Amino acid sequence: MDLGLADRVVLITGGSGGIGGPVAHVFAEENARVAIAYRRNPDAARKVADQVERNGGKALVVPYELTDPAAIRTAVETITQEWGGVDVLVHSASPAGGPSLAPVPFEELSIETWRPQVRAEVEGAFATAQAVLPSMKERGWGRFVFLSAAIVGRGRTGDEAYVASKMALHGLSRTLATEALGHGILSNVVAPGPTVTEGYLRWAPEDLRRRIEGMPPEEIREQMAKLSPHVRISTPREVAAAIVFLASAANGNITGSVIHVSGGS
Ligand SMILES: NC(=O)c1ccc[n+]([C@@H]2O[C@H](COP(=O)([O-])OP(=O)(O)OC[C@H]3O[C@@H](n4cnc5c(N)ncnc54)[C@H](OP(=O)(O)O)[C@@H]3O)[C@@H](O)[C@H]2O)c1
Repeated sequence: MDLGLADRVVLITGGSGGIGGPVAHVFAEENARVAIAYRRNPDAARKVADQVERNGGKALVVPYELTDPAAIRTAVETITQEWGGVDVLVHSASPAGGPSLAPVPFEELSIETWRPQVRAEVEGAFATAQAVLPSMKERGWGRFVFLSAAIVGRGRTGDEAYVASKMALHGLSRTLATEALGHGILSNVVAPGPTVTEGYLRWAPEDLRRRIEGMPPEEIREQMAKLSPHVRISTPREVAAAIVFLASAANGNITGSVIHVSGGS
């Protein structure tokens, strides 16, 4: 199947992360040009870009900060100067990377904890989508894919800020799907279940983390399969495959949807 992604310009926020990096590689394998946005980890972003370039692909590395609309505009301007615009936004950046490591009872959740999480997730997604939408409209083609989490569908006590802010992305994506109808632009959410990355290791429950720390990803998946035989932990490439399909020309009419990549969790 031709995914029709050759030369498309893809901005991957959180491109220095455990899922964002593999997403960049899968797009590059389809000959798309990938802009890898990072916050604190330029080395991780550069490593992804170097690998893409070694394989004959085109990659850019751009600094990016969810909480700074000016930095977001600058990142998009840099990509536009280099490559003429943005066709695809994969919004993977998240201040938490995953659900909270230390959930607190709702009554004890302070606004000081709530606010930065919700603002970074929601306002960062809003400002980034707003910065790239004009270039998609101009080209008459575009794709948004926002990263949520499978867990938000059933909620998680003690993790209200993460769940509420990810749910806001569902609303934003749904609204963009409507707003962009008629411009050739589709918008969807991908909601991974637990996916073995460094981020996952950070937020896995303490007892589980102790058991899996230092293990290679395949062994972690085996251990997890023993713990919950009806759920299979995803690999980052499995999450990436769903993202790349939704962002491709092969996706003709899936928009406003939430796709779970969660092995039944
Ligand atoms: N891994 C999982 O099991 C899992 C499960 C469900 C949902 N998800 C979702 O999937 C997405 C990717 O997760 P991941 O596993 O790749 O997480 P990760 O490895 O922790 O990566 C998080 C990424 O977000 C960036 N980031 C964090 N705060 C930022 C900020 N204020 N401004 C700009 N960028 C910021 C980080 O940049 P730097 O490192 O450069 O600072 C990094 O690239 C997230 O939206 C996450 O919620 C992941």
